[in-house]
Amino acid sequence: MNAMKQPTMWETYTKKYLESDYMRKDKSPQQEESRYYVYDMMQRMAADGDVSMLDLGCGPGAVDTVAMNRIDGVTCTGMDTENILGHAKKNVPKGTPFVECDILRGLPSEEYDVVNIRHVLEHVPGYEVLLSEVFRIARKRVIITFFMPLGEDDHYHVLYGSRSFRNKYSKERFEEFLRVCGVWWDRRCLTTNVIYDIRV
Ligand SMILES: C[S@@+](CC[C@H](N)C(=O)[O-])C[C@H]1O[C@@H](n2cnc3c(N)ncnc32)[C@H](O)[C@@H]1O
Repeated sequence: MNAMKQPTMWETYTKKYLESDYMRKDKSPQQEESRYYVYDMMQRMAADGDVSMLDLGCGPGAVDTVAMNRIDGVTCTGMDTENILGHAKKNVPKGTPFVECDILRGLPSEEYDVVNIRHVLEHVPGYEVLLSEVFRIARKRVIITFFMPLGEDDHYHVLYGSRSFRNKYSKERFEEFLRVCGVWWDRRCLTTNVIYDIRV
């Protein structure tokens, strides 16, 4: 049989899709709120001057591409693993630094106005070391989006398949961690996603 190879989800995030449907509110009703949250925030910040954003676990670099293409003064740096970055690099404006790295193995020393971590912490085995590093290099804001609201359970290290994690974190413990880090945050509960908008 000569079956057509189906594109992976990331392969569907083409330049054309990002320019058209990615930010359309009627096309991705559960996803768009958190996409817009980051985008709108970047727009407000850029009104006061240039803004740099580090996007950890950037996937196909969608929010970075959209923000850089539409908002003057925004520069983004993406970090993710090699196979994903191939897609991201096709989309982002030429010359954008998209760096292949394991974000759990330490972050570079450069500082960024904003660090964006969207739908990523669920996939890594714990957040403490990573977020301590993030708070070191973020100048103004850290935006953490969880796919689902945090609950009471703290299921750590839940391996899903051979490499991926689908961890659940306890809200109480997560917020206690933020308190200990000395950051201030605003928790926004969207239709499905929950956002921690953190001022460092
Ligand atoms: C669900 S995707 C989210 C992608 C993007 N942030 C978005 O909102 O569309 C999770 C991403 O985290 C990346 N990721 C997970 N663990 C990572 C690690 N240790 N180092 C770098 N990237 C990682 C995955 O490769 C994947 O692209």
